[in-house]
Amino acid sequence: MSDTLANDRLLRALRRQPVDRTPVWLMRQAGRYLPEYRATRAAAGSFLAMAKNPELACEVTLQPLRRFPLDAAILFSDILTVPDAMGLGLYFVEGEGPKFERPVREEADVARLAVPDMETELRYVMDAVRTIRRELGGKVPLIGFSGSPWTLACYMVEGGGSDNYARIKAMAFDRPELLHRMLGTITDAVIAYLSAQRVAGAQALQVFDTWGGVLSPALYRQFSLPYLERIARELDRGEGDARAPLILFGKGNAPHLEALAASGADAVGVDWLVGLDEAARRVGGRVALQGNLDPATLYAHPRVIAGEAARVLDDYAAGNGGSREGHVFNLGHGMSPDMNPEHVAALVEAVHAHSAR
Ligand code: CP3
Repeated sequence: MSDTLANDRLLRALRRQPVDRTPVWLMRQAGRYLPEYRATRAAAGSFLAMAKNPELACEVTLQPLRRFPLDAAILFSDILTVPDAMGLGLYFVEGEGPKFERPVREEADVARLAVPDMETELRYVMDAVRTIRRELGGKVPLIGFSGSPWTLACYMVEGGGSDNYARIKAMAFDRPELLHRMLGTITDAVIAYLSAQRVAGAQALQVFDTWGGVLSPALYRQFSLPYLERIARELDRGEGDARAPLILFGKGNAPHLEALAASGADAVGVDWLVGLDEAARRVGGRVALQGNLDPATLYAHPRVIAGEAARVLDDYAAGNGGSREGHVFNLGHGMSPDMNPEHVAALVEAVHAHSAR
């Protein structure tokens, strides 16, 4: 299917093939920093009502692409749709973020967890993928995504966001076998979810391990890495030109770059706490790299943004034997609601201009 794409820079870069410019997309490129997003959200009544409506999810997915020449669309949804479909009861409290009515705390809660059916319980996500793919008309590829098993487990055990991860870390220390059983079921669900998105039309797949970096290296190797490796090993990504590359993004994953590069994933996404020169040297061409501008750079003057973008591009090349191939430009984490859309325009323009071959 990728042969029909007007702009296939993203897929080519993820395969470490030559491109005319470095592709760029931004985590959370659809969101509250866009007035048209706030209008759609107000009309829908809530974030969840919007995410559960395939036409509205499609509309907000396309909004940033109408403004900026981005090289990819990302499905508008949330990582917490999966635990919601597992029966935990997702809701949002204004100003407090996501919460679950029924968090997972006891052995019986873990025993009740089952892989949801993708074409019934998560049908709205697959319908959104199909709708977006149709509306994109081959302009740019569509990225599907899931949370990582560890990151989903954090929300499922804590019952929402957390400052210290007290409950899930206590579970990791005191009841490691219970946490492993839970992570095993979540991993089955993540693999089924990503596969279903690919079959519905997603052309690249990203796993967000947003909270892997809160673990000590020893605990990361026990409770996050093995499940990322299992996804990379077992996920059916399709064949030939239609093969959907897998990106493993992790906040704070720099200590583990060698292991992630050997996982079988196609690309690794990194935050801004590691230089892309060092990261590129350490992965040694085994995977593509995605990142890693500090999102706060978007608060700076457009001239400064352009300079910082050039630095990230040149850092990658410096660590990759002088070549820009195998780099997907992104932020090191998601955008914030108070960012200026004009600064985003300046960033995308600077990435394309500075990286033109
Ligand atoms: O990148 C994109 O444009 C795609 C959309 C996307 C959203 N959530 C939309 C969203 C993606 C990829 C996510 C993933 C997600 N959701 C993650 C992993 C990504 C990361 O940032 O590391 C996490 C940890 C979540 C959980 C979650 N959902 C949080 C912490 C929040 C923010 C709550 C708040 O009030 O700020 C959400 C809600 C959410 N998901 C919003 C958006 C645009 C804001 C909802 C709103 O409009 O009020």
